[in-house]
Amino acid sequence: MRIMLLLLLTVFLQAQDAFLVKPYLQLGDAPRPAAKERLDLLWHAEDRDVAWTVEVKGTRGWIVQATPTFHRLDAPPLPAHRIYRTTLRDLTPGARIPYRVKLKGAVVFEASAQARKPGAHRMIVFGDAGDGSKEQAAIAKAMAAQQPDAVFLTGDLVYGRGRASEYRAHFFPVYNSEAMPLMRSVPFLGVPGNHDVPWDLQRWPDTLAYFAYWSLPLNGPALKPGESNAAPAVAGVHEAMVAASGPAFPRMASYSFNYGKAHWTVLDSNVYTDWGSPALKAWLEADLKAAKGAAWRIVALHHPLFQSSRSHMEDQWMRPISPILEQYGVNLVLAGHVHNYQRTAPIRFKPTKVGPRGKPVAGAFTVDEAFDGKAATRAKGIIYIVTGAGGAELYDPWQTDAQASWQPWTRAFVSDKHSYTVLDVEAKKLKLRQLDAEGRELDAITMTK
Ligand SMILES: [Fe+2]
Repeated sequence: MRIMLLLLLTVFLQAQDAFLVKPYLQLGDAPRPAAKERLDLLWHAEDRDVAWTVEVKGTRGWIVQATPTFHRLDAPPLPAHRIYRTTLRDLTPGARIPYRVKLKGAVVFEASAQARKPGAHRMIVFGDAGDGSKEQAAIAKAMAAQQPDAVFLTGDLVYGRGRASEYRAHFFPVYNSEAMPLMRSVPFLGVPGNHDVPWDLQRWPDTLAYFAYWSLPLNGPALKPGESNAAPAVAGVHEAMVAASGPAFPRMASYSFNYGKAHWTVLDSNVYTDWGSPALKAWLEADLKAAKGAAWRIVALHHPLFQSSRSHMEDQWMRPISPILEQYGVNLVLAGHVHNYQRTAPIRFKPTKVGPRGKPVAGAFTVDEAFDGKAATRAKGIIYIVTGAGGAELYDPWQTDAQASWQPWTRAFVSDKHSYTVLDVEAKKLKLRQLDAEGRELDAITMTK
């Protein structure tokens, strides 16, 4: 009896300290839906050799998955640790599938994973969140209650410098805890913002953690470290992060994926990228061209093209891609960076004057005045959303009630409440709602084909 108790206690203690970060789901390098779906499962643990096993529940019992691999991350201030991963395979599209993690043969973690749905689904989108604020936690709780199938973050994933230590302090505890088991249940996707890449190139050896901690499609422009358009990493400063990132650095900054009937094109919009350069432009055109069959084409990036906030008003350098987006029938552009919520009318834009970075990009607007998202739901043009109110301090709260300060094509602007976006996507209908932490609907539109 005593031995039995001792054994149970040992298993319990193993489970307690097995993880530095509990398992969380990622789409992995699986950009397109398949008859048998897959998801990547990652977790962080101490830097020592132990035997991990991952199992997925099939119809005839538990199925052992490929032996987990790891990258070692040794960048202060966190002690060296291992980022483990394996791929959960042969998942039935749309099914919720139990999985478990074993350490030395004992189950230390159990959850269930939402496999990519082939049709109607709910995606939650928000940005500018991971700063450890009570607002970040409140938004996380509210969005979990909406039971999304997947979550997309529009950048500035973690504050203030995209560091591994910051993920440990106020990203994983908020989105992947016992109290908030969201990231272990549905895959999170995202795009790096300006806070996720180095600012001061000589400091913060644990920045660039996006590339080490996330696992997303590797089908973006084939950038190599040190090339123009690639996130910067400095020898002697960021080597540990680059090593821990494997093939993800710097390529994973941009990519595309399909979910249900929607095609998402995800663009790194940081200042070091030039989407007018032949390499990036060719990739963008080829990606959108190949997505012709998708019911909806969505572009997600950090820096908005069109927005009304006084803050970041002149960060307009992504505007020159709008004719390409229009040419290939993009319906919706989702951005963050500006810490509030904004929606434009469907617009078309012809740039006439492109100046240096940080200066306005002038051009001619054609605005679809008829679309209202209620009775008139067929948009002629692209609707641009800013959803950057996920937790960090809000920008320009006074503008909510100062409509005279809005650009003429802005149709909704809520800057005095934190909020997030719920997309309900079907083949012929896309419903967008903006909700606050109390579940109040701040804005809602429906788009139809
Ligand atoms: Fe930002």
